[in-house]
Amino acid sequence: MADPGFINSINSADPVNRDDPVDPRKVPFRTLCTGQKIPSIGMGTFGSDKYGPEEIAAAVTGAIRSGYRLFDCASVYGNEAQIGTAFEEAFAAGIVRREELFITSKLWNDMHGKGDVLLSLAKTLKDLRLDYVDAYFVHWPFPNYHAPGCDGDSRNPDSVPFSVDRFMATWNQMERIHGMGLAKNLGMSNMTVTKLEAALPKCRIRPSLIEMEQHPSFQQQELFDYCASENITVIGYCPLGSPNRPERDKTPKDVTDTELPEVAAAAKNHGIHPAPVCLKWAVQRGSVPIPFSVHAKNYISNLKAVTEDPLTPEEMEALKKAERNCRLVKGQVFLWPGAKSWTELWD
Ligand SMILES: NC(=O)c1ccc[n+]([C@@H]2O[C@H](COP(=O)([O-])OP(=O)(O)OC[C@H]3O[C@@H](n4cnc5c(N)ncnc54)[C@H](OP(=O)(O)O)[C@@H]3O)[C@@H](O)[C@H]2O)c1
Repeated sequence: MADPGFINSINSADPVNRDDPVDPRKVPFRTLCTGQKIPSIGMGTFGSDKYGPEEIAAAVTGAIRSGYRLFDCASVYGNEAQIGTAFEEAFAAGIVRREELFITSKLWNDMHGKGDVLLSLAKTLKDLRLDYVDAYFVHWPFPNYHAPGCDGDSRNPDSVPFSVDRFMATWNQMERIHGMGLAKNLGMSNMTVTKLEAALPKCRIRPSLIEMEQHPSFQQQELFDYCASENITVIGYCPLGSPNRPERDKTPKDVTDTELPEVAAAAKNHGIHPAPVCLKWAVQRGSVPIPFSVHAKNYISNLKAVTEDPLTPEEMEALKKAERNCRLVKGQVFLWPGAKSWTELWD
């Protein structure tokens, strides 16, 4: 089990104005295996093919002013240049210092392999206007990619299944950029226990962070516990169940997290929207959620959620029953020729 004692505290005092910024010192943090501190909640920056780069960069500016100190970026989101301008302006205006932010980015699937990791990170650093990232992730453990905005049935004939040797060739390049000081921490994303068991013993520099889908209806308890046992901190994506995810990631069987009875009951107890319940649950459980929103009302309420009015142990227990095994990001566009179902990606 993850140790909830990792976090400093969640304050239940101080009535707050809903639109006030949050003092970043009130946001609980976790300590990574490298000793670096990471805020217990951050902001996602994937626009889900719906929000453009300028709109997201404006949200990043607003989020910094509101007290966010962790931002989850990726080259494939197509907005790092605009977000970089937002960071640069925030530093120049003295709103925040570089060392106060924890900024992550990710290697896209078409840049796996020798030499391409450094090229990819160099482009990201140029776009983000940074000298280093706090963590650099391998976005997916395969070199399989698709055209941006493609539909769910599209397949790339060059796609291949996971191979630990191929993955480690990319990871060795990740270790190199870590050695160069360009990434303070390394991370993997969209892994499984099976893949981690194959890869971790081969790492010279182990990942400090694993990013995985995580929300009440998809808790990934086994993978989550495995990461805790390996002293790896978990970043949880789609923490609200990604209600505006791209059409290719929607199926009729998907459930809506904010409508689950277990979530709704806790929201009713606290007199709040179900969205902050999902975030309180994530942080109190021991992971780092990265909710996305371009709307100040929502992103401020998301940050406040983890600084006040925690869920009770009984509510945390009840939320375990919200599990519905509902994976939203199935990754079917990454399937290789001959693969029959997206479940083959998640051994
Ligand atoms: N590593 C990976 O492979 C991977 C995959 C997927 C996502 N991610 C990362 O995870 C981040 C989060 O995932 P996500 O954006 O898909 O899903 P999400 O954070 O679960 O959901 C985001 C949606 O929830 C709505 N929302 C946010 N706060 C709300 C609130 N307080 N009340 C009501 N609605 C609210 C937003 O709508 P409004 O904009 O209207 O507020 C937004 O469209 C991404 O942005 C990305 O950085 C990583």
